[in-house]
Amino acid sequence: MGTKSGYTYWIMDKEPRKFYVTTPIYYVNDRPHIGHVYTTTLADVLARYHRLRGDDVFFLTGTDEHAAKVADAAAERGLTALQWADQNAGEFQQTFTRLQLSHDDFIRTSEDRHKQRVVAYIQQLLDSGDVYQGEYEGWYDAGQEEYVPENKAQEYEFKSPVNGKALVRRAENNYFFRLSKYQDALQQHIEANPNFVEPDARRNEVLGRIREGLADVPISRTGAEGWGIAMPNDPDHTIYVWIDALFNYLTTVDTDERIQYWPADVQLVAKDILWFHAVIWPCMLMALGRPLPGRVYAHSYWISEGQKMSKSLGNFIDLERIDQYVSDFGLDALRYFLITQGPLGSTDSDFAHAKYIDVYNADLANTLGNCAARGTNMIVRYFDGKLPERGPSVPASRSHASTADEAVATVLGAIDRVNLTQAVDAALGIVRSIDLYIEQTQPFRLAKDPEQLPQVGTILYNCAEALRIASLLLWPVLPDRMQQLWDRLGCTSYTQALENAGRGDLTRWATWGQLQPGTPVSKGDPLFPRYDES
Ligand code: MSP
Repeated sequence: MGTKSGYTYWIMDKEPRKFYVTTPIYYVNDRPHIGHVYTTTLADVLARYHRLRGDDVFFLTGTDEHAAKVADAAAERGLTALQWADQNAGEFQQTFTRLQLSHDDFIRTSEDRHKQRVVAYIQQLLDSGDVYQGEYEGWYDAGQEEYVPENKAQEYEFKSPVNGKALVRRAENNYFFRLSKYQDALQQHIEANPNFVEPDARRNEVLGRIREGLADVPISRTGAEGWGIAMPNDPDHTIYVWIDALFNYLTTVDTDERIQYWPADVQLVAKDILWFHAVIWPCMLMALGRPLPGRVYAHSYWISEGQKMSKSLGNFIDLERIDQYVSDFGLDALRYFLITQGPLGSTDSDFAHAKYIDVYNADLANTLGNCAARGTNMIVRYFDGKLPERGPSVPASRSHASTADEAVATVLGAIDRVNLTQAVDAALGIVRSIDLYIEQTQPFRLAKDPEQLPQVGTILYNCAEALRIASLLLWPVLPDRMQQLWDRLGCTSYTQALENAGRGDLTRWATWGQLQPGTPVSKGDPLFPRYDES
């Protein structure tokens, strides 16, 4: 802090903290569905919280394109693999843009910037001896493009656990990554850094498997016919798609301008691909001599109306369903449902229509929307649409300033722990406390007596101020509607700062008492109209 013309001010240009968040890069042979939208929305909300608090954020998503099934699907359609990948990557990009996801870059593994760096990393590993040539034989799951360890293959009765097709016995001459060499270092790292793999249940699973021993892994395959990245100086071998893909997190930022973002602070994945991210990836980084990511967070799965989503059941929450929810309830409502009801921890979550309506009506229409409408309506009605002065104090069970301060602290802590559900709950707690305050102090009754109007002013000022702070804390989840609310409360400067500078100043903005009495306040349409199925 410093002082200037007698005022205390925060030094705005202090070096911002960097924050790098990633999502998995998605296979281009599928159309985007709720799972892809979920992880990307989680990353978006985290990115927005960090931008709001002033951090220098880099948020990366993208597509994983070099799978053999991409080349097969393209051939069936008479297209080149790249043409097919272009179409489908385009669909992901359009979807993410339509859903207003705020990624800073979208990496496609078919891009030169990615391919060139992957070759350089593999060359480095060849030079250091961490990649070597050898013979491999094992059970191969063609749909997943991965080898299944012998004990797992037995457990699955030699069928793919994903699509039920028979595993095939395959032998090949491959390049291998010396994973075994890094077993101890990785185990120590995970033990010493409890946040490195989260949630805890997943961390324990990973540690258990590591303790069973890590064998070297094949990182190349033959017969890819030109689709994929060739091994340096050995064009018959193509770098295995998973190895190619994992590098995306580094290739995208491995430039002079962006390297300060590495290592990633949070890497979001689902439980299906945790092994690659918690074991193979950090060991490859160790072999390259690069710092490891701060957190690999593996959420669980969405299921649909109580059942696992699958092609055969045709019950995917697909793009059509997603767009329908957006048009019926608004984009912010979809984000709210995903963030508050989603499988962030270690249990799956059910995407159920009835639950969607319940959550929407209870939290958004009845709690937040209603609270905003009540406060602004009374200001319009009793104070001619101008924010009243804080008058004499009015007895209430609890001070709003301290409720708000506590919520801000809770949200900041929750964000650091990727506990988005807790963050939203704390923010909504402010809204609930406003409702309670209105019930206790009854401004609508006091307003009938002109002598009590100054007290009504105090109450409504406090409500507006608490609502303003709640709206800041909810903005990352509900950016569109909270910006509308800022318009109504005369707080458009937040929108400007977030749009122009790309970052806010949450702790300063969220200090109590910043709304200026006399500011015009308008009521507008309901932020979240009640949804009635009929
Ligand atoms: N291409 C690999 C990832 C490479 S990352 C270097 C891949 N792609 S994927 O298209 O199958 O996407 C998997 C990811 O999509 C999951 O990790 C998760 O983020 C998301 N989801 C896919 N289905 C999901 C659910 N049913 N529920 C929640 N998220 C899920 O694997």
